[in-house]
Amino acid sequence: MTEKKSIAVLPGDGIGPEVVHAALEAIDALHLPLDLRFGDIGWECWREEGDPVPERTWKLLEETDACLLGAITSKPLREAEAELAEPLRGTGRRFVSPVVQLRQRLGLYANVRPVSDLENGAFDFAVIRENTEGLYAGLDFHGLDDALWNAVRHHPNAAASGPDATSVTLRLQTRFGMDRLLRFGFEYARAHGHRLLTLVDKPNVLRNSSNFLRERLELMAGEYPEIETEVLNVDAVALWMVRRPERFGVLVAENMFGDILSDLGAGVMGGLGLAPSGNIGDHGAYFEPVHGSAPGMAGQGRANPMAMLLTIGQLLDHLGMPLPAGQLREAVRTVVRARSTVTYDLGGSATTAQAAAAVADALRPAGSPQEVSA
Ligand code: NAI
Ligand code: MG
Repeated sequence: MTEKKSIAVLPGDGIGPEVVHAALEAIDALHLPLDLRFGDIGWECWREEGDPVPERTWKLLEETDACLLGAITSKPLREAEAELAEPLRGTGRRFVSPVVQLRQRLGLYANVRPVSDLENGAFDFAVIRENTEGLYAGLDFHGLDDALWNAVRHHPNAAASGPDATSVTLRLQTRFGMDRLLRFGFEYARAHGHRLLTLVDKPNVLRNSSNFLRERLELMAGEYPEIETEVLNVDAVALWMVRRPERFGVLVAENMFGDILSDLGAGVMGGLGLAPSGNIGDHGAYFEPVHGSAPGMAGQGRANPMAMLLTIGQLLDHLGMPLPAGQLREAVRTVVRARSTVTYDLGGSATTAQAAAAVADALRPAGSPQEVSA
């Protein structure tokens, strides 16, 4: 018997709870050695407690092996303050996105989004996005001090605008940050049998930083002789991801390029109702569907649970349970391919619970009485 793994389950808000519960019910059929421990996160925690990630939730995360997240609503600062419970207003509390808090506090530097063709098996690749530095490092300035102004003043557009009418964002790339990302990318490729690692960057424009990154890649590549590497421009990758998705294995990209490409990947896969993701560090990880809380359809039982089911598959892989993970993916593929019990976004009329139940039926051994009739 495999050792039991503990999972912090944080359903969150919006459609989060309904897809989490439907998906967890569906995987009952797998009889997995999991200890599920439920916790609170999200908008209601913010409104009632002034903190979207309460201290008890951090404790739960410390005590568990990994985390499964539903979805979380985030709103701009002014709305967030206005929705706080009366006694908490004006107490100086500031809403910080829970997913940003999780990534920073747990050091989750790799955002992994597997993209596969569920219907025909024509492609299967993963976008791995750097989560902590790059253009989103937070070094973003409007109205420049002397140091920044001196760096840009000779650009003709800056000279025509002056320091108060110029903004600058720095793309931070460090050996520390890049090496651990590349290492993660190679290890992921090896573990998942991918033969090609594509470094997505912009070497013909961002010459110095791209060259530095390429050197780091080349240094490491020797340790993984079975994996071919290439460096491609981000715009070309966007085109090819749509035109020839089957050519890719693992794509590794800095924060902003990866942000954009991973949403493109969700589109290539067939939409938000299908796309899973994981945020992984050396000492922790959480897994969530790419979609958000979709407040407009919350509570209606219309949300597609497949993204959440595939997210659980990714979590099981991470916890060293590739067999049930594969069975789960195959069951999702069976249901998506049959198209008879799918939600509205895939052209069907099934509810969240019905679509998840169809996956549960596909997971049961053939011939068992509850199998779906197509
Ligand atoms: P969203 O992903 O929640 O929804 C966009 C649209 O996609 C929905 O209106 C719906 O038509 C469709 N959709 C999403 N999930 C679906 C599903 N499972 N099945 C079928 N259709 C689905 O993005 P939106 O509307 O921009 O954001 C809503 C809230 O979610 C915001 O507060 C945002 O901050 C938050 N959000 C949270 C994320 C997270 O928890 N990591 C990620 C993205 C957004
Ligand atoms: Mg995004």
